[in-house]
Order: sequence, then structure tokens, then C-alpha cells
Amino acid sequence: MKVGVLASGSGTNLQALIDAGPRGELGPARIVVVGANVADCGALERAGKAGIPTFQRSHRDFAQREDFDHALVDELRRHGVGLVALAGFMRILTPAFLDAFPRRVVNIHPALLPSFPGVHAQKQAFDSGVRFSGCTVHFVDAGTDTGPVIAQAVVPVLDGDDEEAVRLRILAEEHRLYPAVLRAIAEGRVSVDGRRVHVRGTPVGLADARLRSL
Ligand code: GAR
Repeated sequence: MKVGVLASGSGTNLQALIDAGPRGELGPARIVVVGANVADCGALERAGKAGIPTFQRSHRDFAQREDFDHALVDELRRHGVGLVALAGFMRILTPAFLDAFPRRVVNIHPALLPSFPGVHAQKQAFDSGVRFSGCTVHFVDAGTDTGPVIAQAVVPVLDGDDEEAVRLRILAEEHRLYPAVLRAIAEGRVSVDGRRVHVRGTPVGLADARLRSL
């Protein structure tokens, strides 16, 4: 399955996906193109180093959100993309994009949705005083981080943590969870039943003192 990754930032999640490929941890998923809305971002640099084709389109160059989305769709289609993975892509996609890849756009979010959607999710969680946070991989719908949840991983917020410590603890789980989800989708093990997503062939429960659904 050909995967297109969209990113805006440093691209550590992209790097985790790139590194997972040669280890066989992406199954039949293969990253064929990386797109970004921010010029010279880390994600584009990482893709270039890995020899993956890239494109850059600034949302500022388009009068309407839909026009930007159509431009992204054109680029992804040109590379035969069948699954789109958002990896720190900080734009809301409209139906102009989502209808081109029905139930084929996934996102990773640094909180346990539906808590703390939107930007600065780690700070939102830290400031709220929760004892646990984590990350969520979900299908993307037209809302902000509202699509059906595929998988989650939980991390504790410990006494003495600052916001950065929590961010890094969550990020480490993101790097583990996202490749596992892309692999499950590419292997045809993921099905959607309304809000409920079924992932076959993976244990659900407690592992290594951390809670994971994948
Ligand atoms: C990640 O923590 C990702 O979950 C988050 O941005 C970071 C990107 O880091 N995404 C969102 O907040 C989306 N709403 P990266 O560029 O190093 O992968």
C-alpha cells in the first residue's frame, strides 16, 4: 500500500515511519511521497535524506482552503497514494481532501482523544493536572481531531515532570504506535463500524507497565 505522509514540522514521527520500513515493521505499507506546507521543515529534510520524493505547497498561496486541499490531492494522486498519514501536519483538511481518500486519512494526536483536541495538546493536558495522557491515532473526519479512534497509548504524568518531560514521554509512544497502525491498515486488519474501529490480530491490554491498545 502506497502511503503519502503530510507534515509541517520537525518530522520525528515521519522518521519513525521511515526507520520502521527496513525492519519490516510497516508490513506492506511503503512511503512513496512526503508533502509539507512549511518550506525547509525538518520533515522535508528527513524525507530527502531517505530518498523519498517530496513536495511543498504553502497554504498561504491559496485563496481558499479547498484550493490548497485540491493541490495536495493532485500531488498525492500523482504518486498513486492509497493511504494518507498526517504526521504533525498542522492544517485542518476540508471535505475537498477527505472525499478524495475516503476513510484513508489517519492522524496522530499527542493526547488521549477526545480529551485535549487541537493545538498544544500536551500543554493542555499538563496544565489540566491529569495523571495520565498519551497519544491517539484516528481516522480523520471534517472536525478537529474528532474522527474514529484506531489506537491509543497511555503514559503517566509523574510528580516532578514539567511539560517537556510529558511531551517527550508521549512522543516516544507516538513513534511506536504510528508504524503499528499503518502496518495494521496496510495488512487489511482494520475495519470501521460507526465510531468503533476493530483492529484484528493485535493484543489489547497492559504491557510493560504501559497501557496500549496496539
Ligand atoms: C507530534 O507530537 C504530533 O502528535 C503532533 O505534532 C507533533 C509533530 O512532531 N501533532 C499534532 O499536534 C496534530 N494536531 P514531529 O514533527 O516531530 O513528528
